[in-house]
Amino acid sequence: MNQPTIHGGEVYLLAKQLGRPVETLLDFSASMNPLGPPVSVVRAMHEAVNGCQYYPDRHSEEIRAQLAQKHAISEESILVGNGSAELIHILPKALALRHACILGPTFSEFEHALRLAGVRCTSVNAVSSQRYTPPIEKLHDLLDEWKRVSIRKDRKPGIHHYAVFLCNPNSPTGRRLSLRDLRQIIKRVNQIGCWMIVDEAFMDWCPSYSLIKDLSLCSRLIILRSFTKFFAIPGIRLGYLVGEPAVVGSMKKHLPPWSVNHVAQAAGVEALKDWRFFQRSLRFMQQARAAFIVQLRTIPGVRVMPSQANFVMVELPPGVDSDDIGARLQEQGILVRDCHTFSGVTQSALRLAVKLRRDNHRLVQVLKITLKDVQM
Ligand SMILES: Cc1ncc(COP(=O)(O)O)c(C=O)c1O
Repeated sequence: MNQPTIHGGEVYLLAKQLGRPVETLLDFSASMNPLGPPVSVVRAMHEAVNGCQYYPDRHSEEIRAQLAQKHAISEESILVGNGSAELIHILPKALALRHACILGPTFSEFEHALRLAGVRCTSVNAVSSQRYTPPIEKLHDLLDEWKRVSIRKDRKPGIHHYAVFLCNPNSPTGRRLSLRDLRQIIKRVNQIGCWMIVDEAFMDWCPSYSLIKDLSLCSRLIILRSFTKFFAIPGIRLGYLVGEPAVVGSMKKHLPPWSVNHVAQAAGVEALKDWRFFQRSLRFMQQARAAFIVQLRTIPGVRVMPSQANFVMVELPPGVDSDDIGARLQEQGILVRDCHTFSGVTQSALRLAVKLRRDNHRLVQVLKITLKDVQM
């Protein structure tokens, strides 16, 4: 059965369980920019409240105009959604998918949405022993197989109902694919005629690796982006996808009307203008992540994965149960993302958001003590 997916950021639930206010929790389980949300965005949201007496702009015209300018693409190539999760959920039906390859371990909502729509899923997983380096060779092997399917025209369903799903940089591993690898995959996808869906929810942390500039190279490429992580507005729900205008036009029919509310649209418009916040955040993250990794490495037995996103995946010492550690940290008001619910994660591991320095320091200290306690 398709189980409901588990995600980080369950702050309301934990606050209730612990009987303490949400603001007193330290949430490392959902990876938000600790410098956000930007003041400019908060102000714009407050001002936008007055506009809530009207229906929102159904087409999110202003955001799309700004995004078109930012990415040098047409407005018709952009579809805005109530968080990128909403867009992920319309993809399987809108593209009439039958079979998907998921480059894992990754965001569980791809598989959830695909299975709900009756799509067959095949996982191609990175492995712990290779520090979760994206399994490009294995993916190419699968694409070879698909190529054979595409040649045999009698086979149903046709290859245009197949899709590759990947996330770059990936969650929970933090690993990023190179542009060279991505372009090779695009080349194969073009040869075969299947779809390629790239989730760039964390791409603002390494913007030069985005595939949006390559959109014209592949008519079956769809890229998902989110405002959630970088602008730290998970409660607002704002994301978008880009693709070929004709494809985007037909996908739009699968969204309910007014799915993107007026306050979210105002937030997005302002966020895209705040260049200083963008620059400051990138500078901050470079330093804070490096310092966090150094600190995490001082914890005996812990294995820290490299990361190009705003979180770090750490494997716990052998024999230590991530569930148990998560529960012990929770008792102290600290949330971490236990990775055992990501299909394909075989070792006991946590995903930890990079937060402000004092918070990162606190987590490292508490984790050190907790690990020591359970190993005594
Ligand atoms: C990789 C990835 N993609 C997409 C999403 C959904 O983000 P949004 O808030 O835009 O729906 C998440 C949320 O955790 C995510 O981790």
